[in-house]
Amino acid sequence: MSKHKIAVIRGDGIGIEVVGEALKVLDAAGSKYGIEWTFDELPWGSEYYLKNGRMLPEDGVEQLRAYDAIFLGAIGHPDIQDHITLNGLLLPIRRTFDQYVCERPSVLYPGVTSPLSGKKPYDIDMVVIRENTEGEYTNMGGFMYEGHPNEVAVQTAVFTRRGCERVIRYAFDLARKRAKENHVTSITKSNALGYSMVLWDRTFERVAQEYPDITTNSLLIDAACMDFIRRPEAFDVVVASNLFGDILTDIGAVIAGSMGLASSANLDPTRTNPSMFEPTHGTAPDIAGQGIANPMAQVLTGAMMVRHLGDEKAADAIEESVKSVLAVGEILTPDLGGSASTTAVGDAIAGNLA
Ligand code: IPM
Ligand code: MN
Repeated sequence: MSKHKIAVIRGDGIGIEVVGEALKVLDAAGSKYGIEWTFDELPWGSEYYLKNGRMLPEDGVEQLRAYDAIFLGAIGHPDIQDHITLNGLLLPIRRTFDQYVCERPSVLYPGVTSPLSGKKPYDIDMVVIRENTEGEYTNMGGFMYEGHPNEVAVQTAVFTRRGCERVIRYAFDLARKRAKENHVTSITKSNALGYSMVLWDRTFERVAQEYPDITTNSLLIDAACMDFIRRPEAFDVVVASNLFGDILTDIGAVIAGSMGLASSANLDPTRTNPSMFEPTHGTAPDIAGQGIANPMAQVLTGAMMVRHLGDEKAADAIEESVKSVLAVGEILTPDLGGSASTTAVGDAIAGNLA
């Protein structure tokens, strides 16, 4: 029997709905595979902000330290500027807990249609490893003459050798474990960014020498965006800076059929701090509250959490259950061409666990 204590932040928008379904599936997997869950629901996010003027209590981030993992829905509100909601909750958690890897798989599952023509199941089967604590998201900078016609904004990107090295190393280690061809693609822009991306490239080349069994290539971000569309089969493990990884993973999600399937994990691989599990899709305000959001991304994100916590069999079972609901194709939300509700999909996945 394993025991895990999880901080659950449903957050905003569809996060509230899809987290409910994922907890249902985690509970079902817990009963089957002997996992004792404690889910502490923390009512943080934009509603909390509207009442209290902050996204979470002053010691909120520190409260999270006591948990084995953080399970997050989505953060953002149409009436509050994104830089307030995200810099108030999501981004400080990533940094405080040194979650320097953001792992985002992109897989075309049987039963799902890619918007790219002629793609067969598993033609798309890659994982993007996004640097998650520094780079373009460093949050250093400021305004000068704010609000004046001559105002100036400075936003500094910070790339450290240690920061580049550890995330690149993670990508190589992952490539070794994967069944595919054991290939790592580095995403760069050193033709234009002659300092930060040159450090990134040098680091990639140095780390690559330690992994002679792994083949590599390096692609400019603009060319990579093109190849994600033109020949996604070519990718296995992709490693990218914070912003480049952010952009690429939206492409990765949509070519695999739906943002509603895109799972994601913010990891501290050293396990010094809790890791955070949040799907890629965001709050989707256009469909929030209607009971039609696809809970599969949140469920698959839950499976990543279960795997991180060491319960491999339960993680496999959750993934297999999602895959079989997709393959049967009868209980699907509108993003996948069906008409089922969020709850019906959650019930089907939970009921189907082998
Ligand atoms: C993501 C999101 C966030 C990011 C936003 C909401 C700050 O787009 O997790 O991909 O850019 O990291
Ligand atoms: Mn994003």
